[in-house]
Amino acid sequence: MPLRSRTVLNRFITLTIIIPALGLTSASAQSGGKNHPWNNPSLSADERASMVVKELTLDEKITLLHGTGMRGLSPMSPLSGQSNGGAGYTVGIERLGIPGIQMSDAAYGIRSSGENGRYSTALPSDVAGAASWDLEAGYQYGALIGRELRAQGYNMTLGGGCNLTREPRNGRTFEYLGEDPILAGKMVGSVMKGLQAQHVIGDIKHYALNDQESGRNAVNINIDKRAARESDLLAFEIGIKDSDAAAVMCSYNRVLGDYACENKWLLTDLLKKDWNFKGFVVSDWGGTHSAEKASAAGLDHEEPGELFYGVNLKSAVESGKVPQAEIDDHVHRILRSMFATGVIDDPPRKSVVDVMGGFEVAQTIEEQGAVLLKNDGSQLPLDASKVHSIAIIGQHADVGMISGGGSAQVDPPGGNAIMPPGKGNTYWQAHVWFPTSPLKSIRAKAPGANVQFNSGEDLAAAAALAKSADVAIVFAYQWESEGMDLASLSLPDHQDELIARVAAANPHTVVVVESGGPVTMPWVGQVSAILEAWYAGSSGSDAIANILFGDVNPSAKLPLTFPRSEADLPHPTVVQPGPESLPNYRQREVWNQIATGLAPFQVTYDEGLKVGYKWYDAENKSVLFPFGFGLSYTKYSYSNLKVMPGKTPRVTFTVTNSGSRAGAEVAEVYASLPALAAEPPKRLIGFSKIKLNAGESKEVSVEVEQKYLSIFNVDQNAWQLLPGEYSFMVGGSSQDLPLKQMLSMK
Ligand code: BGC
Repeated sequence: MPLRSRTVLNRFITLTIIIPALGLTSASAQSGGKNHPWNNPSLSADERASMVVKELTLDEKITLLHGTGMRGLSPMSPLSGQSNGGAGYTVGIERLGIPGIQMSDAAYGIRSSGENGRYSTALPSDVAGAASWDLEAGYQYGALIGRELRAQGYNMTLGGGCNLTREPRNGRTFEYLGEDPILAGKMVGSVMKGLQAQHVIGDIKHYALNDQESGRNAVNINIDKRAARESDLLAFEIGIKDSDAAAVMCSYNRVLGDYACENKWLLTDLLKKDWNFKGFVVSDWGGTHSAEKASAAGLDHEEPGELFYGVNLKSAVESGKVPQAEIDDHVHRILRSMFATGVIDDPPRKSVVDVMGGFEVAQTIEEQGAVLLKNDGSQLPLDASKVHSIAIIGQHADVGMISGGGSAQVDPPGGNAIMPPGKGNTYWQAHVWFPTSPLKSIRAKAPGANVQFNSGEDLAAAAALAKSADVAIVFAYQWESEGMDLASLSLPDHQDELIARVAAANPHTVVVVESGGPVTMPWVGQVSAILEAWYAGSSGSDAIANILFGDVNPSAKLPLTFPRSEADLPHPTVVQPGPESLPNYRQREVWNQIATGLAPFQVTYDEGLKVGYKWYDAENKSVLFPFGFGLSYTKYSYSNLKVMPGKTPRVTFTVTNSGSRAGAEVAEVYASLPALAAEPPKRLIGFSKIKLNAGESKEVSVEVEQKYLSIFNVDQNAWQLLPGEYSFMVGGSSQDLPLKQMLSMK
């Protein structure tokens, strides 16, 4: 649909949604009509929570500490009937005006809208958001999810994944934000700020080191604590601090011997004490394994049911095994989060989702997040007036683009684009194609050209079509999902062979990759252009067509490295669990097996803090495309680096758009620490995305937090800035840093 008619429709929809729907819940309705003293918004969230805690009976307190069940993952309470259809529901305390907590998965949009008869926007996958390196885009990403959650009647998200891409074969890579703790931390912080500004409880997950899906309910992660603090945990630390996230979800796996959801080091020592986290810790679904131990370790809330945090916890309190003060702290944190995010003062109002507005946001984010990886001979942008014929090749590129699966899955309107109408229901781990058609979008861009499609199943036919066209565009995909890891980074279904055959037939071959993370590209030298589209969301094909035809100048950079082969990864394969470490889903009440604790198996991150580019740098391994890399249709140059010393050193430099069209450049700032630190060669310490017209120059200033230049000293349990020579480097990719300045720090 043209943008103008969308805008008109948009206004119409905006008008309709301000008319409150029936079933509206107002703050006074929520408060049972009574004017409770804690309804006073001029009091702090802590004061308000403390007042409520004093009024609660033990039973009421326990009610707030667990969910009401989820089919297949826990017994169901009859109260689950009041759930809004999300993954979690906690009963409120009506007599005191405390509403229930309605939780929905919402990684890149709201889950289960199909079965609930609702509509949700699918944003580009989270990793695409990170590839924008644009914190404002991150904020808009979260704000859209927050608005749609509220419109659907939810007051808490279960999104906010920021596990580092330590293992790129992890099936949830698309739900996360890349391999660098500062980029991932800043980005998740922005997403949560945008979301919580809509008065929805934000949640950051999966805390922590849940970096592979294989055996996730049993695996024990071994890692050196310094390495953990400087890598995976730093992303959480930054995101939580930046956004004041109201909740953190602890993960399924064990860390250094204890399950994450009963790990005192993670939950109390770091999260609640060191980082001063004021919100509550919710277990991943079935991630609770005890009452006493988990409660003492700092788990505040069990989901989805009450295997431990129902009668078990209550009798542990009554018998004195769990102190009353501990329970009060759990409850206080939950209530505080509800007051702080505004879900009590401004409860969700069910309303019509702004569908067209969602399309616009999804498209803009994809335009900002798709990374141009190769563009030989200025193959792109295509000039519609000069291209007479285009071959569109690739599975389902006539009807849709693939999306990421698992609990993140957003349902497409009208169902899966590759299913016959009416048979479009999605199911766990189905490959879901969004109805956003590359063929249609490209035809719309080049109305005068002969644009033909071939699915690529017949290699010879695909090559023949490519040969007959001016340009061949292959849409390649790699699907991934929660609950599985990729066996390899290669494209499935003979697509490598397909691309090689097409490229051999046509020297103007463009490959658009739809993937959740890096893929290997044995054909990289044979094609003229490559665009990494990630999972492109509801309006993916229009966004991609805009980039291919130059209506949008690409500006994204890789948030993770594309290695040459799996052999270059820190671990040759993903360690697989034995049968004793896997739940048997055919058994009824499988949750009891998981809850009791499956036999652990060991995964050791001996690469330590060398995650992503830090690994390849330190090991001197060349890569396919480096972290921070991405091309544009214009050129940027860097000059005038100055580093001002101080508590938070200030790095200033000039970026010039020396090409002939406007664009946006992600300027990246890295540092090398003194040799004494024994760190990898460099680390990202800041970045800034700058819009520049053709010929324009801007001075950029990046303030660097001291922590980003420090190491974590485990003996002193503190970040430490080591004395010595630091080198500051600035440029447009981790491997293209033209500016460099040394600074001595004491
Ligand atoms: C996932 C979480 C999700 C939860 C609720 C779990 O299996 O790991 O990310 O929020 O289910 O659906």
